[in-house]
Amino acid sequence: MSRDLLTIRALDRASLSRILDLSTGDAHGRPLAGKGVALVFEKPSARTRNSMEMAVVQLGGHPVYIHKDEVGLGTRESAEDVARTLACYHSLIAARVMDHGHLDQLAAAVDVPVLNMLSDSDHPLQALADLLTVKQLRGTLDGARIAYIGDANNVARSLAQGCALLGIELRVASPDGYGFSPEELGGFGAAVTQTGDPAEAVKGAQFVYTDVWVSMGQDDEAEARNTALAPYRVDERLMAQADDAWFLHCLPAKRGHEVTDGVMDSARSAVWRQAENRMHTARGAMAWMLA
Ligand code: CP
Ligand code: NVA
Repeated sequence: MSRDLLTIRALDRASLSRILDLSTGDAHGRPLAGKGVALVFEKPSARTRNSMEMAVVQLGGHPVYIHKDEVGLGTRESAEDVARTLACYHSLIAARVMDHGHLDQLAAAVDVPVLNMLSDSDHPLQALADLLTVKQLRGTLDGARIAYIGDANNVARSLAQGCALLGIELRVASPDGYGFSPEELGGFGAAVTQTGDPAEAVKGAQFVYTDVWVSMGQDDEAEARNTALAPYRVDERLMAQADDAWFLHCLPAKRGHEVTDGVMDSARSAVWRQAENRMHTARGAMAWMLA
């Protein structure tokens, strides 16, 4: 029975807390000693590739970076056959995919655990780093209040699932057509709420989070997205309406679009701590998957 991590939703509260615990200290041990981890990338990456490669090394293993053209998920070979091949050499398969369905296919085909390094719908590794960052900055996750401003995308979805699981208050502000559907919002439970008004979302928040308006693979929609989301820029004026809040962003940021230089570079910006935490939580996630 493998322990996949394709979405945060698939975790229970105890597992999520355990991953965060394994992300700090040295309880993770070296479960990958002498073993390989396949890192398949269908999209570019700076943080995920580097944090994952280093986390694999810290767990005693050897990472192998695999560019999409080398495996051709579903084109050169079926996703299932790619998984069966990689499982001959590796103890864990991690993939960043265009289509989340490919992750399900990889996971269904093999017993080695499969880790989602970002799909069109989810970014669980990012949410783990975000939650660790909130925990470190507040000393506890209890009573945390986060505002997410902008596109309710893969990053927002994984964050919302994590907040829902841990009972953290998350208020999402998005324009019409770019928020969570009422059905999905309802599924998160009372912890996650949604509004069209950024000022309302940030009121009383200790953390203000945003992400790009145009995610990888959405370039065709760039003009419409940039227009619809322009009033949702996180600038100094919006931050002043929060509660001396920390600024969060998964990165890469498009400065001048979803966030101003002043906010990104302010003393209350925690984006580099988040980036560093990607490595710690990647280590925690893999240690949990291999336990
Ligand atoms: N935040 C994040 O996943 O960054 P990369 O796309 O650079 O990996
Ligand atoms: N929402 C962004 C996140 C990048 C880390 C994207 O999918 O491109």
